Amino acid sequence: MAKLHVSTTINGEPAEFLADPHQSLLDALRGTLGLTGTKEGCGTGDCGACSVMLDGRLVCSCLVLAPEVEGKEISTIEGMAEGEELHPLQQKFLEMAALQCGICTPGVLMASRALLERNPDPSETEVRFWLAGNLCRCTGYDKIVRAVLDTAAEMREAAR
Ligand code: FES
Ligand code: FES
Repeated sequence: MAKLHVSTTINGEPAEFLADPHQSLLDALRGTLGLTGTKEGCGTGDCGACSVMLDGRLVCSCLVLAPEVEGKEISTIEGMAEGEELHPLQQKFLEMAALQCGICTPGVLMASRALLERNPDPSETEVRFWLAGNLCRCTGYDKIVRAVLDTAAEMREAAR
């Protein structure tokens, strides 16, 4: 089947690639573009490991067709740090050991950043509700939730 040419923006840089009509964005990111930070857990939209931002919306990249991102802006975990400087969420996850195997972590971080961008002062319930679509088989979630809440508090303090 003929491949389709896709032009998009990934983490602020123009990107072009060829995609099969039925290829997922997740597969294109990992397999074609070598951006393997985005993980595959289920491939069916249930685990959140493949979360990326698409035109400002949090999406499961396993449920997006690669040709659909023509002309759109994508943010992946590779674009979360500013050069050598980790995003506060990444730093806090390390400090608080809010990860174990790390498969869920890129998706959890992308989702957590999306939450804090729209709600800088979430309650614990709001964090747990927001992250309900990001499954983690290792941590028991508590450290993840604490890390997000602590990051939010530090970011609010830094913004004063
Ligand atoms: Fe996409 Fe699980 S791999 S939601
Ligand atoms: Fe292993 Fe979350 S740290 S699945």
